[in-house]
Parts: sequence; C-alpha cells; structure tokens
Amino acid sequence: MLDELRAKLPGWVEASRAKAREGDVASYIPELAKAPREALGVTVMAADGQTVSAGDAELRFTMQSISKVFTLLLALMDNGEEGVFAKVGKEPTGDDFNSMLKLELVEPGKPFNPLINAGAIAVTSLIRGDTPAAKTARILAFFGEAAGGARLDVNLDVYRSESATAHRNRSLAYFLKDNEVLGDDVDVEDVLGAYFRHCAIEVDCGQLARMALVLALGGVDPVSGRRLVPRRYVQIAKAFMLMCGMYNASGEFAIQVGIPAKSGVSGGILALVPGRFGIGVVGPALGAKGNSTAGVHLLETMAAELDWSMF
Ligand code: DON
Repeated sequence: MLDELRAKLPGWVEASRAKAREGDVASYIPELAKAPREALGVTVMAADGQTVSAGDAELRFTMQSISKVFTLLLALMDNGEEGVFAKVGKEPTGDDFNSMLKLELVEPGKPFNPLINAGAIAVTSLIRGDTPAAKTARILAFFGEAAGGARLDVNLDVYRSESATAHRNRSLAYFLKDNEVLGDDVDVEDVLGAYFRHCAIEVDCGQLARMALVLALGGVDPVSGRRLVPRRYVQIAKAFMLMCGMYNASGEFAIQVGIPAKSGVSGGILALVPGRFGIGVVGPALGAKGNSTAGVHLLETMAAELDWSMF
C-alpha cells in the first residue's frame, strides 16, 4: 500500500489542487487570509511509523478547530467522562460551527458537542492549570507528545489576530457563563485566551499525521509503543470526529470518504484509517461550510482509490 501511495500521491495532489479555486481562505481571523490559497499538502503515516508526503506538506499552519479533538482528550483525562459531559452534550447540531442558536433554544443551554466553538470553549475551561499560562503549557506539552515529542508553539500573530476580532466567540463564552456552563470560578477572558492559543498552535502535515496515528492506534504512540491516552477516550473522540468533525458537512464526508476526520479554518484536516494510517492534510481555501475544498477532494480520491471507507 505504501509503495502504491508513494507512486500515486503526487498526481492525486496535483489533480485536487484545482479544487482550491472553488474555495477561499478564511478572513474572519485576518491573519489567516495571508495563507497561500492554492497550496495543498499531505502526509500519510503508517502504523509502523513510515511516512509518504506530497505537495506542500511542509507548509506550517495553525490547528484551529483540529485542536478541539486533543483538548477534549486532555479534559477527559483531567475530569473523566462524567465531568466533561456535565458541561457538553454528545450530539451533532447541523448548525454552523460558531452558532449560538441552540444555546438558547434547548434547556439547560449546554453546548451540543465538544467540537462546535461553544462546546470547545466549555471543554477548555475544564483543563487543569493553576494559571492561564500553566493551562497553555499543559496543552502544548500534550499536543507535542502526541506529535512524537515535537516542540510545538503558539503562532502569536494568529493568536492576537483572533483575540482582537473574536466578538462572536466572546459572546458565546459570556452566554455560557450566564448559563452556568462556565462555573463561578471560571474567568471568561482567561478561558478565551487559552482557547485562542490552542487554536493557534502551529503544525505541519507530518506532525498532524503523527497525531492522527495516535488516534488510529487507540491512544498508543506508533514509535515508542507507549500509551498516551486511555482507549475509551480515543473512542469518544473518534465518534465525535465522525459525527461532527467536518461540521455540517460531516454526513456528506462520512458517505464520500467514510473515516473519522477533523477540519480547521486554516485549511488543515486530520484524518485516520483505524488501526492503519494517520493523515495530515492542508489546503487553505475553504468551501461554504468551512472545510478545505482541495483537502476534502484529495481525501475523497484517496479513500476511493485505496478502499478506506469504514462502512
Ligand atoms: O474559534 C474559531 O472560530 C477558530 N479559532 C476555530 C474555528 C474552526 O477552525 C472551525 N473550522 N472549520
């Protein structure tokens, strides 16, 4: 399979690159609008740690919503299932990722799932750390461990750009405070600061593929064989990825591609073939639902050619 991939991946990337013209870079976070619109890169990492890359795999980009999968894992490790699901639900919404709609429509006003912005902000509030800086340091250490011992950092330009313009996320967070999803002891601005920072953690496709492979292997590091996350929590994360990892295009993605994945507005997509492959993709031009147009097309091609669908 890896030999076939090595031979064919560059051609598939070039064929999918044209799809970038059907999308555009995110601009509601001004710094993200500087990304190269027609870039497309991918790394696939096999269970034995071997990798195949093609296109602009070395491009560095911020994780954005992809980070929500790993903050969920950390919050589960810190609080257990009961602690986390007291604050967020387990259901897809069908609404946009930054929607406020259901927070008021449904009692008790807790976010539907941990992958929409409101849910991810609630999850971030649960991660342990005596100070906001300590919380961010724990997040960076955990993400770096999952990326194979990488030294990951926050892209401060992206962090500042989001923080300065995040009126909607701020209103979501204050709404959650009023709904008592964020507790009395929680400072809303501190939680938002930690949330914007983990969204701005910078990676490349290889690091994303390695993080994906840890999930594909049920929480075990592919190279050291060390367990990083309890298997049960990885099952929970992958179930959410399948149900709502591509936001309100998750149903279509499950039909067209058929594997757990999580996208971000920087154009990154983390995907995995259970037990077999971790995949990192980047293509900054997004479609109407916030997913990389070229990246999704590339994953559709790979899944069809290599028979990756779980179903
Ligand atoms: O909170 C936000 O809006 C961004 N930091 C992350 C959103 C995101 O990546 C949604 N992805 N498709």
